[in-house]
Order: sequence, then structure tokens, then C-alpha cells
Amino acid sequence: MNEVTNEREAVRLANVSKVFGTNSHLTTAVRDVTLSAFAGELVLLLGPSGSGKTTLLTLMAGLIEPSEGSVLLFGSDVREYCEDELQKLRARRLGFIFQNFLLVDSLSVLENISLVLQFAGKGKAAARSAARGLLRQFALERFANAFPLRLSQGERQRVAIARAIANGANLITADEPTASLESGQGLVIIELLRSLAHEGNRGVIVASHDLRLVKFADRVVRLRDGAIERVDCGERLQPNSVESRWPTRGESQEKIQADRGKWVVSHD
Ligand SMILES: Nc1ncnc2c1ncn2[C@@H]1O[C@H](COP(=O)(O)OP(=O)(O)OP(=O)(O)O)[C@@H](O)[C@H]1O
Ligand SMILES: [Mg+2]
Repeated sequence: MNEVTNEREAVRLANVSKVFGTNSHLTTAVRDVTLSAFAGELVLLLGPSGSGKTTLLTLMAGLIEPSEGSVLLFGSDVREYCEDELQKLRARRLGFIFQNFLLVDSLSVLENISLVLQFAGKGKAAARSAARGLLRQFALERFANAFPLRLSQGERQRVAIARAIANGANLITADEPTASLESGQGLVIIELLRSLAHEGNRGVIVASHDLRLVKFADRVVRLRDGAIERVDCGERLQPNSVESRWPTRGESQEKIQADRGKWVVSHD
């Protein structure tokens, strides 16, 4: 069958199920999910622990194969790629962001980013120069030579996001990107992700159980026991207004506004 693809469609899952385990102990993590994500939108996968969010993100990245159904990445079934091609595709077009950042603690902030660029084939000097440019965009330049553990959690997450898009990824998955952050920093991160979708025209998929993220999403996919329970669109509530921000614990509005003004992402 010829798939009709839309070039804005970054990923499509068609009737996907994923079962883990062996005969005696099977877990169905994802049940018959049909879902697309497009360039320029932020999709929120919302569900309680164990509802299949991480499994869905992993399927979307072609890191695991579905037990049933198909996963199309940029219009092609992941099963049609050989492992080498899939790895290249991941390196060039996909960016992953994790709750715990997964930065290499023994490397400087600059090295964390430039290493990814070197893996993708850039020479050392070019990689470092591109990494510096990214750090500038994310208002992280002053941390270039610092080690990740000396940064705040929110700063670390910004480094992780800079790293995820370093190669120009056009599909970004973020697994609980705000879970380790206090609310002011969480706000900065979700606004940054939204800007990558809207101004950067990337497909951004965020998995979370945090209801505060709902108003930042273009589409909210609610999961329960591995299945889609409901899809909502247009739930955003004046996302740019200061009033719509989530409550903070002991942090002043001025401080949040200052943090938000710090990063400027260019989307050339
Ligand atoms: N590799 C695996 N082997 C066996 N079972 C797994 C595996 N990965 C996930 N599961 C199971 O699949 C179900 C969905 O897990 P998943 O990690 O996708 O949920 P989640 O929504 O991301 O949860 P959380 O919010 O806790 O991160 C869970 O019951 C989990 O135990
Ligand atoms: Mg998870």
C-alpha cells in the first residue's frame, strides 16, 4: 500500500501496539495507538505513571519496534531503514531530551554539545564553534567551560535542549522535561520547547503527567493503560501572558521574567 504522506508530518504511528516480556509475563505498554505529530506543533502526551508515555516516545524514535502496527518517520516506515540508516536519521533529524538531562558530567558544557556535532561528522574546531553559537543562543555562554554538575537543574536542562537540537533536529522528543525542575525553571523550559515548535517549525513531543503543561500544547493526547483515552486541541490559555504562568514557590515575577528574557533562540 502506498502511504499518503504529508511533508509536515514528522512521525506517524498507525495502530501501534507494544508488548514486552515473554509468554508467561506479558505487559502491553501501548495499545492500538494511531497518532501523528507535525512540524510546527507541540504535542503533549499526558498520562499517569505506567500509561505508556516513554514507550511511545521510544517507538517514535525507532529505538524499539512495534509488536503490531507501523511507525513512519518522515514518511518512511522504520522497518524499511537498515540499522545504519536509522542511526544516521536519529543523529541528523531527531533530538532527545530526558528528565535527568543525561549530560556527560566529566565533560564541560561546551564539550557535551560539540561532541554530538563531532559524532555527526563535523571537525573538532567547527563543532566547538557551532557549540559556542548554540550556547550563546541559549544564554549559556558563561557556562561553556563549566562542568554540568555546577549548573542549576534548569540550566542543565537548557544545555540538554541545546544538545538535542545541535544537529538541526526537526523532531524533538522530551520525556518529563520539567519533572526535576522547580516551577519557574519548568516554565522557562516548556516555553523554550514551544518556541522550538512554533518559531523553529520543529515537531516537538513532550511526555508528562504534569497538567500545568496542558496550556502550552497545541494538542493534548491523554493516555491510560497504553491506549489513547482522548485528544484535545486548542486548550492553550493565553500562553504568553504572565498571568497564565504556573504558580511558583517563593520566586518573584521579576526573576521569572528575567530568566525568560535570557534566552533567545534563533531559528535560521
Ligand atoms: N522494557 C520493558 N520491559 C517490560 N515492561 C516494560 C518495559 N518498558 C516499559 N514496560 C512496562 O510498560 C508499561 C508502560 O511503561 P512506560 O515506561 O512507557 O510508562 P510511562 O507512562 O512512561 O510511566 P512513567 O510516568 O512512570 O515514566 C509499564 O507497565 C512498564 O512497566
Ligand atoms: Mg516514562
